[in-house]
Amino acid sequence: MSSLTPVRFAEYDPKALAAMTGCVAVMVTPEGSLDQAARSANRLSKGAIARLIESEGFKKAKTGDVIPLAWPAGMQAEALLVAVLPRKLTPVEARQAGAKLAKAAGGKPLTVMAGSMNKAADLTMGIALRDYGFDNHKSPKEDKPAAEAVIAAKSPADLEAACTPLLAVAEGVHMTRDLVNEPANVLTTTEFARRIEEMKDIGLEVEVLEEAELEKLGMRTLLSVGQGSDSPSKVAVMQWKGGAKDAAPLALVGKGVVFDTGGISLKPAGGMEDMTMDMGGAGVVTGTMKALALRKAKANVVGLVGLVENMPSGNATRPGDVVKSMKGDTVEIINTDAEGRLVLCDVLWYAQERFKPAGVIDLATLTGAIIIGLGHENAGVFSNDDELCNAFLKAAKSEDEGAWRMPLGKAYDDQLKSRIADMKNVGGRPAGSITAAQFLKRFIKDGMPWIHLDIAGVASVKSETAYAPKGATGWGVMALNRLVADKFESE
Ligand code: BES
Ligand code: MN
Ligand code: ZN
Repeated sequence: MSSLTPVRFAEYDPKALAAMTGCVAVMVTPEGSLDQAARSANRLSKGAIARLIESEGFKKAKTGDVIPLAWPAGMQAEALLVAVLPRKLTPVEARQAGAKLAKAAGGKPLTVMAGSMNKAADLTMGIALRDYGFDNHKSPKEDKPAAEAVIAAKSPADLEAACTPLLAVAEGVHMTRDLVNEPANVLTTTEFARRIEEMKDIGLEVEVLEEAELEKLGMRTLLSVGQGSDSPSKVAVMQWKGGAKDAAPLALVGKGVVFDTGGISLKPAGGMEDMTMDMGGAGVVTGTMKALALRKAKANVVGLVGLVENMPSGNATRPGDVVKSMKGDTVEIINTDAEGRLVLCDVLWYAQERFKPAGVIDLATLTGAIIIGLGHENAGVFSNDDELCNAFLKAAKSEDEGAWRMPLGKAYDDQLKSRIADMKNVGGRPAGSITAAQFLKRFIKDGMPWIHLDIAGVASVKSETAYAPKGATGWGVMALNRLVADKFESE
């Protein structure tokens, strides 16, 4: 299990530069002016930074770029990292710069001479986000020095206070990534529920509903997905009660298919291993709940995840089967690979019946079609409520997480008509992501503000992003945390 690299806050003392070990970062502006620590490092290294600034390479450098100078003369450090940063930075620029510093340090101890830099807290968060690796299944390498980040600032106590909630969010992001990266033989439904239960230690109320209870509640569509697997289906409920006693909560609902073979409508072999990430929605809900609890958000939020495995077997659901949802509507299952919506529709209904929430946001790696539409840059956003939707889009933008609104409409809904049941679980090839959203919308009560986020393209990616190495990104934890802070938190 990966954990956040420890961050220490220290007094800013450029005189101590010569003796610092590991990687040491100093700042220069794109125009080539040096701050106090950069001037000291330049003096110690006999003008290395001044020569760098005169070079052709420096002229091409962009805001946030990090230029490493290896084994600088006059210093104990193994690398001097020169960060190109204007004096005034946006939070996103600061985070991206922090991420580049963490990448350049490559897991070695890093000291950042932040001084009185503006947005040092966001820079620190960027380091924490990028300093991530999922290597608990690799044989340990030879003695690696323990990673550590030291941020040297003019008022370390103030910076530490500003960083505390941001690092809580980064910890939530790391948790989501760990869950999404974990293989399905390790992250079974039972293990997922166990990891959620562990979060009781940080003040979350957690319940896990087992199959017998789900059966009693009438969650047949959810159970129909898991019935071919030896792993038991579960619904986990996490409550964070940081807000006013009587305030209706925000409900976050996640698809947690720990592995999606497609079921009897079996997927082709090529790339099937990627379906270990089909619990990505549940992963984001879990990581967000962790972040909210760690930073003690003054809001009421409930997270619900449907944990199932979609397997073929003698007991698996067949194409053509008709099952009844908790709501009471019947579904003709045309394709057992369109399973995510069958899990979500019961959990969405349960969330509304039990919690009478102020709004519902579901997250799911729901359709391959959203990847065709939006690639890996943006999640698909579907909503019946402009105000909640715009608040989410704004939150996602300020957290640098791509999100793009998609349409809904009756004509798409009509594609779900079934000859023998209330609806089919697929709407044909055209607009596959929208018909999936329309299916979910049938399980949203009138007047309930709702957002559906199709994260199939963004939950896990094959190339590194600004904040994460290849693999799970943790997309959505930061945007949802920000939405809670902006819209649901009382002062
Ligand atoms: N889990 C998949 C969607 C998915 C695809 C996620 C690629 C991540 C990457 C989902 O359960 C699925 O199989 N959807 C089908 C729906 C179809 C049968 C209507 C799809 O997208 O092909
Ligand atoms: Mn599927
Ligand atoms: Zn799936």
